[in-house]
Amino acid sequence: MIKKVIKSKEEIYNDVLEVYVNEINKNPEIVLGLATGSTPEPLYKKLIEAYNDSKISFSKVETFNLDEYEGIKKENEQSYYSFMNKNLFSKVDIKKENINMPPNKEEGIEEYEKKLNEKKIDIQLLGIGSNGHIAFNEPGTPFNTRTHKVKLAQKTIDDNSRFFDKKEDVPTEAISMGLANIMEAKKIILIAIGETKAEIIKELFSNDNISEQLPASILKKHEDVTIYMDQEAAKLI
Ligand code: PGA
Repeated sequence: MIKKVIKSKEEIYNDVLEVYVNEINKNPEIVLGLATGSTPEPLYKKLIEAYNDSKISFSKVETFNLDEYEGIKKENEQSYYSFMNKNLFSKVDIKKENINMPPNKEEGIEEYEKKLNEKKIDIQLLGIGSNGHIAFNEPGTPFNTRTHKVKLAQKTIDDNSRFFDKKEDVPTEAISMGLANIMEAKKIILIAIGETKAEIIKELFSNDNISEQLPASILKKHEDVTIYMDQEAAKLI
């Protein structure tokens, strides 16, 4: 059962921040599954503020990210490694050795999987693609998939082109945690903001169907999932 929270954008990020502050203080060695994209950015800003106000410390926190573009160098400003560094890691007291980013090539998958299997993600943060993807698990991805190389859907490439100067620069392949990895997290928080997510949110909640054509629908089988939506994302439900 998915728990739904529909509030203003500001209230959503405050609510989610509160969950993180409580959980990190309850368990300073918490393992966080993190995401990139527009959706998590305001949360990372608030986490940095909470850190600056001494409300939380990341000194024992370990993180795993959902995905990384294939073939992109770590130092490239478009890499998800750079995104995480700029938007969170470089601004808090997390230890470098506790940061786990997916590899940027297939050869690193086995090692990433090994690390993931040694830990259990306590809270997995997710956005949702306008085509229903979670991480880069595009429609049609088998539910039992673990970390794997993916070809990005044209819709995803189009959506991501807003971060690049030219459409041709958008990577077309990525390494992504699989749906099976995501489902192993103890707690899942998905945030959907804005009108561009309204159609897919409607589709997700229009029935009880769980289908590989709508990757996020697998979350209906998880026992601790909350989807936080602002009024725009929820306007069709
Ligand atoms: P966004 O991406 O946060 O940039 O909207 C969400 C996603 O593709 O998972």
